[in-house]
Amino acid sequence: MSDAAIALEINDLHKSYGQLEVLKGISLSAKDGDVISILGSSGSGKSTFLRCLNLLESPSQGQISFAGETLALKPGKDGNLEASNQKQLERMRASIGFVFQNFNLWPHMTIIENIMEAPVHVLKQDKQTAYENAENYLKKVGLLDKKNSYPNQLSGGQQQRIAIARTLAMEPQVLLFDEPTSALDPELVNEVLTVMRDLAAEGRTMLIVTHEMRFARDVSSQVVFLHEGQVEEIGPPEKVFTNPESERCRTFLSSHL
Ligand SMILES: Nc1ncnc2c1ncn2[C@@H]1O[C@H](COP(=O)(O)OP(=O)(O)OP(=O)(O)O)[C@@H](O)[C@H]1O
Ligand SMILES: [Mg+2]
Repeated sequence: MSDAAIALEINDLHKSYGQLEVLKGISLSAKDGDVISILGSSGSGKSTFLRCLNLLESPSQGQISFAGETLALKPGKDGNLEASNQKQLERMRASIGFVFQNFNLWPHMTIIENIMEAPVHVLKQDKQTAYENAENYLKKVGLLDKKNSYPNQLSGGQQQRIAIARTLAMEPQVLLFDEPTSALDPELVNEVLTVMRDLAAEGRTMLIVTHEMRFARDVSSQVVFLHEGQVEEIGPPEKVFTNPESERCRTFLSSHL
Protein backbone atom coordinates (compact mmCIF):
# COMPACT_ATOMS: atom_id res chain seq x y z
CA MET A 1 0.00 0.00 0.00
CA SER A 2 3.07 2.24 -0.15
CA ASP A 3 1.77 4.25 -3.12
CA ALA A 4 -1.66 4.78 -1.53
CA ALA A 5 -2.84 8.36 -1.12
CA ILE A 6 -2.64 10.15 2.21
CA ALA A 7 -6.05 9.87 3.89
CA LEU A 8 -5.31 11.86 6.99
CA GLU A 9 -2.41 13.99 8.11
CA ILE A 10 -1.99 15.61 11.50
CA ASN A 11 0.86 17.95 12.20
CA ASP A 12 2.00 19.19 15.61
CA LEU A 13 -1.39 18.99 17.29
CA HIS A 14 -1.63 20.59 20.72
CA LYS A 15 -4.55 20.84 23.11
CA SER A 16 -4.73 22.49 26.51
CA TYR A 17 -7.52 22.70 29.05
CA GLY A 18 -6.59 25.87 30.90
CA GLN A 19 -3.10 25.28 32.28
CA LEU A 20 -3.22 21.57 31.56
CA GLU A 21 -1.60 20.67 28.24
CA VAL A 22 -2.99 17.25 27.34
CA LEU A 23 -1.70 17.00 23.75
CA LYS A 24 1.85 18.19 23.31
CA GLY A 25 2.47 18.19 19.60
CA ILE A 26 1.19 15.04 17.92
CA SER A 27 1.99 14.31 14.29
CA LEU A 28 0.58 11.30 12.51
CA SER A 29 -0.30 10.35 9.00
CA ALA A 30 -2.52 7.61 7.63
CA LYS A 31 -2.61 6.40 4.05
CA ASP A 32 -5.76 5.03 2.45
CA GLY A 33 -6.35 1.58 3.89
CA ASP A 34 -4.17 2.07 6.96
CA VAL A 35 -5.40 0.78 10.29
CA ILE A 36 -3.73 2.69 13.11
CA SER A 37 -4.22 1.51 16.67
CA ILE A 38 -3.69 4.01 19.45
CA LEU A 39 -2.66 2.64 22.82
CA GLY A 40 -1.86 4.37 26.07
CA SER A 41 -2.70 4.67 29.74
CA SER A 42 -5.82 6.36 31.00
CA GLY A 43 -5.41 10.13 30.71
CA SER A 44 -2.67 9.96 28.06
CA GLY A 45 -4.86 11.93 25.64
CA LYS A 46 -6.22 9.23 23.31
CA SER A 47 -9.84 10.41 23.29
CA THR A 48 -8.86 14.06 23.18
CA PHE A 49 -6.71 13.34 20.14
CA LEU A 50 -9.52 11.59 18.24
CA ARG A 51 -12.03 14.27 19.22
CA CYS A 52 -9.76 17.04 17.95
CA LEU A 53 -9.67 15.48 14.48
CA ASN A 54 -13.22 16.52 13.67
CA LEU A 55 -13.26 19.45 16.09
CA LEU A 56 -15.47 17.81 18.69
CA GLU A 57 -12.70 19.41 20.77
CA SER A 58 -10.88 22.52 19.63
CA PRO A 59 -7.14 22.04 19.31
CA SER A 60 -4.89 24.86 20.56
CA GLN A 61 -2.36 24.52 17.76
CA GLY A 62 -1.61 22.33 14.75
CA GLN A 63 -2.82 21.33 11.29
CA ILE A 64 -5.27 18.64 10.22
CA SER A 65 -5.71 17.49 6.60
CA PHE A 66 -8.09 14.97 5.10
CA ALA A 67 -7.43 13.58 1.64
CA GLY A 68 -4.97 16.35 0.92
CA GLU A 69 -7.31 19.16 2.01
CA THR A 70 -6.23 21.16 5.05
CA LEU A 71 -8.90 22.12 7.53
CA ALA A 72 -8.97 25.91 7.71
CA LEU A 73 -8.55 27.03 11.32
CA LYS A 74 -8.37 30.40 13.04
CA PRO A 75 -7.84 31.44 16.65
CA GLY A 76 -11.12 31.56 18.58
CA LYS A 77 -12.09 33.69 21.59
CA ASP A 78 -10.79 31.21 24.16
CA GLY A 79 -7.37 30.91 22.52
CA ASN A 80 -8.19 27.57 20.93
CA LEU A 81 -8.56 27.11 17.19
CA GLU A 82 -11.91 27.00 15.46
CA ALA A 83 -12.99 26.31 11.89
CA SER A 84 -12.81 29.39 9.72
CA ASN A 85 -14.90 27.78 7.00
CA GLN A 86 -18.06 26.17 8.38
CA LYS A 87 -19.00 24.55 5.05
CA GLN A 88 -15.60 22.90 4.83
CA LEU A 89 -15.90 21.66 8.41
CA GLU A 90 -19.31 20.14 7.70
CA ARG A 91 -18.02 18.46 4.57
CA MET A 92 -15.02 17.05 6.42
CA ARG A 93 -17.15 15.90 9.34
CA ALA A 94 -19.41 14.05 6.95
CA SER A 95 -16.38 12.14 5.68
CA ILE A 96 -15.30 11.02 9.16
CA GLY A 97 -17.23 8.29 10.97
CA PHE A 98 -16.93 8.17 14.75
CA VAL A 99 -17.82 5.12 16.83
CA PHE A 100 -17.95 5.74 20.57
CA GLN A 101 -17.70 3.51 23.59
CA ASN A 102 -21.38 3.99 24.40
CA PHE A 103 -23.18 3.41 21.16
CA ASN A 104 -25.75 6.22 21.68
CA LEU A 105 -28.54 4.76 19.55
CA TRP A 106 -31.87 6.61 19.57
CA PRO A 107 -34.03 4.59 22.00
CA HIS A 108 -37.37 5.63 20.45
CA MET A 109 -36.40 4.56 16.93
CA THR A 110 -36.19 1.09 15.48
CA ILE A 111 -32.82 -0.21 14.39
CA ILE A 112 -33.40 0.54 10.73
CA GLU A 113 -34.71 4.03 11.56
CA ASN A 114 -31.55 4.66 13.58
CA ILE A 115 -29.42 3.79 10.56
CA MET A 116 -31.53 5.79 8.09
CA GLU A 117 -31.71 8.93 10.21
CA ALA A 118 -28.48 10.70 9.20
CA PRO A 119 -28.42 9.58 5.55
CA VAL A 120 -31.95 10.98 5.11
CA HIS A 121 -31.48 14.19 7.10
CA VAL A 122 -27.84 15.00 6.48
CA LEU A 123 -27.04 13.38 3.11
CA LYS A 124 -30.63 14.01 1.88
CA GLN A 125 -30.94 10.46 0.56
CA ASP A 126 -34.47 9.53 -0.44
CA LYS A 127 -36.10 7.15 2.03
CA GLN A 128 -36.19 4.16 -0.29
CA THR A 129 -32.46 4.43 -1.04
CA ALA A 130 -31.63 4.97 2.63
CA TYR A 131 -33.76 1.95 3.57
CA GLU A 132 -32.02 -0.32 1.05
CA ASN A 133 -28.58 0.92 2.09
CA ALA A 134 -29.47 0.40 5.75
CA GLU A 135 -30.49 -3.19 4.99
CA ASN A 136 -27.14 -3.78 3.29
CA TYR A 137 -25.18 -2.40 6.24
CA LEU A 138 -27.29 -4.48 8.63
CA LYS A 139 -26.41 -7.56 6.58
CA LYS A 140 -22.77 -6.60 6.76
CA VAL A 141 -22.82 -6.55 10.58
CA GLY A 142 -24.97 -9.71 10.65
CA LEU A 143 -28.09 -8.13 12.14
CA LEU A 144 -30.61 -7.78 9.34
CA ASP A 145 -33.13 -9.79 11.37
CA LYS A 146 -33.13 -7.03 14.03
CA LYS A 147 -34.16 -4.23 11.72
CA ASN A 148 -37.56 -3.70 13.35
CA SER A 149 -36.35 -4.14 16.94
CA TYR A 150 -35.62 -1.29 19.33
CA PRO A 151 -32.15 -0.71 20.79
CA ASN A 152 -33.14 -1.83 24.30
CA GLN A 153 -34.12 -5.23 22.87
CA LEU A 154 -30.51 -5.84 21.79
CA SER A 155 -27.38 -6.87 23.65
CA GLY A 156 -24.52 -4.38 24.05
CA GLY A 157 -22.50 -6.15 21.38
CA GLN A 158 -25.43 -6.05 18.97
CA GLN A 159 -26.01 -2.37 19.73
CA GLN A 160 -22.39 -1.58 19.00
CA ARG A 161 -22.61 -3.48 15.69
CA ILE A 162 -25.68 -1.37 14.85
CA ALA A 163 -23.74 1.77 15.78
CA ILE A 164 -21.03 0.68 13.33
CA ALA A 165 -23.65 0.06 10.61
CA ARG A 166 -25.10 3.51 11.31
CA THR A 167 -21.66 5.06 10.90
CA LEU A 168 -20.99 3.14 7.67
CA ALA A 169 -24.30 4.33 6.24
CA MET A 170 -22.81 7.84 6.07
CA GLU A 171 -20.15 6.43 3.74
CA PRO A 172 -17.22 8.02 5.57
CA GLN A 173 -13.67 8.04 4.17
CA VAL A 174 -12.09 7.50 7.58
CA LEU A 175 -13.42 5.66 10.64
CA LEU A 176 -12.45 6.66 14.17
CA PHE A 177 -13.16 4.26 17.03
CA ASP A 178 -12.79 5.26 20.68
CA GLU A 179 -12.65 2.09 22.78
CA PRO A 180 -15.58 0.50 20.95
CA THR A 181 -15.57 -2.65 23.06
CA SER A 182 -14.73 -1.39 26.53
CA ALA A 183 -18.34 -0.95 27.65
CA LEU A 184 -19.14 -4.56 26.71
CA ASP A 185 -19.29 -7.74 28.73
CA PRO A 186 -16.25 -9.85 27.80
CA GLU A 187 -18.28 -12.47 25.95
CA LEU A 188 -19.66 -9.76 23.61
CA VAL A 189 -16.34 -8.21 22.65
CA ASN A 190 -15.46 -10.64 19.88
CA GLU A 191 -18.55 -10.13 17.77
CA VAL A 192 -17.68 -6.43 17.53
CA LEU A 193 -14.00 -7.08 16.85
CA THR A 194 -15.01 -9.51 14.08
CA VAL A 195 -16.97 -6.75 12.35
CA MET A 196 -13.99 -4.42 12.72
CA ARG A 197 -11.61 -7.03 11.33
CA ASP A 198 -13.86 -7.32 8.28
CA LEU A 199 -13.74 -3.54 7.79
CA ALA A 200 -9.95 -3.56 8.05
CA ALA A 201 -9.77 -6.40 5.51
CA GLU A 202 -11.95 -4.37 3.15
CA GLY A 203 -9.28 -1.70 3.14
CA ARG A 204 -11.07 0.89 5.24
CA THR A 205 -8.92 3.61 6.77
CA MET A 206 -9.32 3.36 10.54
CA LEU A 207 -7.91 4.94 13.70
CA ILE A 208 -8.74 2.81 16.70
CA VAL A 209 -8.22 3.56 20.36
CA THR A 210 -8.32 0.17 22.00
CA HIS A 211 -7.10 -1.96 24.87
CA GLU A 212 -7.55 -5.15 22.83
CA MET A 213 -3.89 -5.94 22.27
CA ARG A 214 -4.29 -9.15 20.27
CA PHE A 215 -6.70 -7.40 17.92
CA ALA A 216 -4.42 -4.35 17.56
CA ARG A 217 -1.51 -6.63 16.79
CA ASP A 218 -3.45 -8.56 14.16
CA VAL A 219 -5.15 -5.76 12.23
CA SER A 220 -2.93 -2.69 12.48
CA SER A 221 -0.58 -1.34 9.89
CA GLN A 222 0.82 1.02 12.54
CA VAL A 223 0.61 1.07 16.32
CA VAL A 224 0.96 4.30 18.25
CA PHE A 225 1.67 4.43 21.97
CA LEU A 226 0.73 7.76 23.53
CA HIS A 227 2.23 8.90 26.79
CA GLU A 228 1.26 12.18 28.44
CA GLY A 229 0.06 13.70 25.20
CA GLN A 230 3.00 12.69 23.05
CA VAL A 231 3.77 9.90 20.62
CA GLU A 232 6.16 7.84 22.72
CA GLU A 233 6.41 4.94 20.27
CA ILE A 234 5.18 4.32 16.74
CA GLY A 235 5.81 1.49 14.36
CA PRO A 236 4.48 -1.65 12.73
CA PRO A 237 2.79 -4.00 15.21
CA GLU A 238 5.46 -6.69 15.03
CA LYS A 239 8.04 -4.11 16.10
CA VAL A 240 6.02 -2.29 18.76
CA PHE A 241 4.70 -5.47 20.36
CA THR A 242 7.90 -7.46 20.35
CA ASN A 243 10.70 -4.96 20.47
CA PRO A 244 9.62 -1.42 21.41
CA GLU A 245 12.23 1.30 21.76
CA SER A 246 10.47 2.89 24.70
CA GLU A 247 10.77 1.37 28.15
CA ARG A 248 7.38 2.91 29.07
CA CYS A 249 5.78 1.25 26.09
CA ARG A 250 7.32 -2.07 27.07
CA THR A 251 5.99 -1.74 30.62
CA PHE A 252 2.54 -0.74 29.38
CA LEU A 253 2.36 -3.72 27.04
CA SER A 254 3.55 -6.20 29.62
CA SER A 255 0.80 -5.05 31.98
CA HIS A 256 -1.84 -5.46 29.26
CA LEU A 257 -1.13 -8.98 28.08
N1 LIG B 1 -13.17 18.67 29.13
C1 LIG B 1 -12.04 18.56 29.83
N2 LIG B 1 -11.66 19.50 30.71
C2 LIG B 1 -10.50 19.39 31.41
N3 LIG B 1 -9.65 18.35 31.29
C3 LIG B 1 -9.98 17.37 30.44
C4 LIG B 1 -11.18 17.41 29.67
N4 LIG B 1 -11.25 16.30 28.91
C5 LIG B 1 -10.13 15.58 29.20
N5 LIG B 1 -9.38 16.23 30.12
C6 LIG B 1 -8.09 15.77 30.66
O1 LIG B 1 -7.24 15.51 29.57
C7 LIG B 1 -6.42 14.37 29.81
C8 LIG B 1 -6.57 13.39 28.69
O2 LIG B 1 -7.89 12.86 28.69
P1 LIG B 1 -8.40 11.80 27.63
O3 LIG B 1 -9.84 11.57 27.90
O4 LIG B 1 -8.02 12.24 26.27
O5 LIG B 1 -7.54 10.52 28.02
P2 LIG B 1 -7.65 9.02 27.48
O6 LIG B 1 -6.27 8.64 27.05
O7 LIG B 1 -8.73 8.92 26.47
O8 LIG B 1 -8.01 8.20 28.80
P3 LIG B 1 -8.97 6.91 29.00
O9 LIG B 1 -8.14 5.71 28.63
O10 LIG B 1 -9.29 6.93 30.45
O11 LIG B 1 -10.18 7.07 28.13
C9 LIG B 1 -6.83 13.84 31.18
O12 LIG B 1 -5.93 14.34 32.12
C10 LIG B 1 -8.20 14.46 31.39
O13 LIG B 1 -8.46 14.64 32.74
MG1 LIG C 1 -10.54 7.89 26.39
